[in-house]
Amino acid sequence: MRIGIIGAGKVGTSFGLFLKDRGETITGYVSRTYDSACEAAALTGSKAFQDPLELIRNSELIFLTVVDDQIEPLAAVLASKLAENIPRPDPGDQRHPIFVHMSGAHSILALEPLAAAGFETASLHPLQSVSEIEQARNAFGDTLFTVEMMLGGGFEGWLATIGISFVRIEAENKALYHVGAVFASNFVVTVLDAAIQLFEQVGFSEEEARRGLMPLVYGSVDNVARSGAEKALTGPVARGDVATVAKHLEALEALEALEDLDSGALPEAAALYKSLSGATLSLAMRYKLTKDPGAAAELKALLAKEDAKHER
Ligand SMILES: NC(=O)c1ccc[n+]([C@@H]2O[C@H](COP(=O)([O-])OP(=O)(O)OC[C@H]3O[C@@H](n4cnc5c(N)ncnc54)[C@H](OP(=O)(O)O)[C@@H]3O)[C@@H](O)[C@H]2O)c1
Repeated sequence: MRIGIIGAGKVGTSFGLFLKDRGETITGYVSRTYDSACEAAALTGSKAFQDPLELIRNSELIFLTVVDDQIEPLAAVLASKLAENIPRPDPGDQRHPIFVHMSGAHSILALEPLAAAGFETASLHPLQSVSEIEQARNAFGDTLFTVEMMLGGGFEGWLATIGISFVRIEAENKALYHVGAVFASNFVVTVLDAAIQLFEQVGFSEEEARRGLMPLVYGSVDNVARSGAEKALTGPVARGDVATVAKHLEALEALEALEDLDSGALPEAAALYKSLSGATLSLAMRYKLTKDPGAAAELKALLAKEDAKHER
């Protein structure tokens, strides 16, 4: 397949490299700035184009890897340019290329102007956090993707030939699916930031905090991967250890009272702790705390009391 990529950022470049590694031909790149297109083209041994129509004419598959907000306007601009420059085939005949965006939040409907113009459209979202190009290039092979597409289209067959494993998703479920991905990726980073800052507060350097915490993180993630969240949960809430949770809340309250804590993420640590403890309690009550309803009720009351204290 000859593949063109519009949007020469992190995903466009790393996914282009991954496809090249899998033996696909990258036609080239168009981007908002010609410099970005040249950089990605140089890395993938392809070509930078100024005119998207030229890239489209030379490609069988086009990935739109622009920022989310630009997908729909770009699809509209491309559809109108294509209408003016490339004749529509007979009714029933599929126009080429296939257009695909890679957003997790937006559905295939963002490409509606191109679908209305007779092109096959799809969305392909990697369940992968892409911040470094080389790391992502190598990680895509083990990544699960989600796909929305028109039934019976050529895209699904192509995915199978290059060995991308995927789950189908419906347009109406895309937003909730993306919320799940945000919890598993972005919020993990936010929670780790709170942990690192708390360790710094008690004398660790930032580097020591990261080094010290990582085995804990990897262990927890590994346990969820092997046994699921209910069995993987450890800690005071899962044990029904009410006194320890009370001690944590006291320490966080004392921290909040410190005057020089008006910047950074630490003032939010107390709110985060309470909110996550509530969610952790619900998780614990599904498995670990089922045999100790008394402790579960005490923890619930303790967290409710703390909430009421802060609402005053
Ligand atoms: N990063 C992730 O973790 C991740 C994971 C899964 C999916 N995605 C999805 O992948 C897509 C791209 O994300 P990204 O992280 O790669 O973003 P990014 O690094 O910011 O790259 C976006 C690129 O799009 C280009 N661009 C913006 N508007 C354009 C337009 N109108 N026409 C042509 N090019 C345009 C920019 O070009 P210039 O450099 O030329 O200014 C930029 O290089 C998004 O849909 C995102 O939701 C991202």
